Amino acid sequence: MSQPTQPTQPTQRHRADICDSDLLLLQNKAWAQAMVGRDARYFARLSDTQSPKFLWIGCADSRVAADTITGTQPGQLFVHRNIANVVVHTDLNLLSVLAYAVEVLEVEHVIVCGHHGCGGVKAAMTQRDYGLLNKWLLNIKEVYAHHIEELEAVPAGKPREDRLCELNAVSQLQNLAKTLIIQKAWNERGGPFLHAWVYDLGDGVLHQLDSLGPDHQVASPFRLDMPEEG
Ligand code: CO
Repeated sequence: MSQPTQPTQPTQRHRADICDSDLLLLQNKAWAQAMVGRDARYFARLSDTQSPKFLWIGCADSRVAADTITGTQPGQLFVHRNIANVVVHTDLNLLSVLAYAVEVLEVEHVIVCGHHGCGGVKAAMTQRDYGLLNKWLLNIKEVYAHHIEELEAVPAGKPREDRLCELNAVSQLQNLAKTLIIQKAWNERGGPFLHAWVYDLGDGVLHQLDSLGPDHQVASPFRLDMPEEG
C-alpha cells in the first residue's frame, strides 16, 4: 500500500469524532463494571455459549435498537440489520446469518422488523438517483410496484410511506419462506416461526403484521423438494 506523500493534519471535525468514540469506550468500561458489580460471573457465563431463541432481521436505522426496544439482554437476540430490513436471496451475508441461526443455533422465531418513518422506504418512493443505493432500493420499489393500487389509495406523505414500511416487512417475511433454509427447517424440526413486525418511532411500540409457521403453504413456484427421509 502506498504511503500518503503529505502528512494530513486532523481537522476540527476529526478531533471531535475521536472524542466521541473515546466516550463510547469510557461508557463501555462503566457498563462492564456495572454488570460485574451486579453479577461477578456475568461475562464468564455469557462467553461460554450462546443459545438465542430469536433471529432479528431489522433496519440499520440507529433508532431501532433491537435489544433496547424488546427489553432483551446480550445472548437473547441473534441480529442481522440492513437498510430497510430486506431479505434478498443473493445476499450471502443475510443467508449466512439465517443458516447459522436456523440450522446451528436452532432459533425458535425469526422476526423481520420494519419501522414507520424508514428512510430506505422513503427513498425508494422517490425517483431520485441514489447511486450505489439504487440497486438496494430496487428491492423495495418492487414491493411498491406490486401494491401500487393499495398504496395510491392511502393519503400521500407519511401515511403512504408508513403503509409501504408495513407491506415491505410482510413481503420480506414471504421472501424468508421462499428460502431452502426455512423450508428445510420446517420439514425437519417443525420450526422456526416467522413474524413480520413494524415498530412505531412515534410511540416506541411494536405491532405484529403477519406470521408464518411450518404449516404455511409456500406458493408452488417457490416450493422446493425436500430430501427423502433416510
Ligand atoms: Co429504516
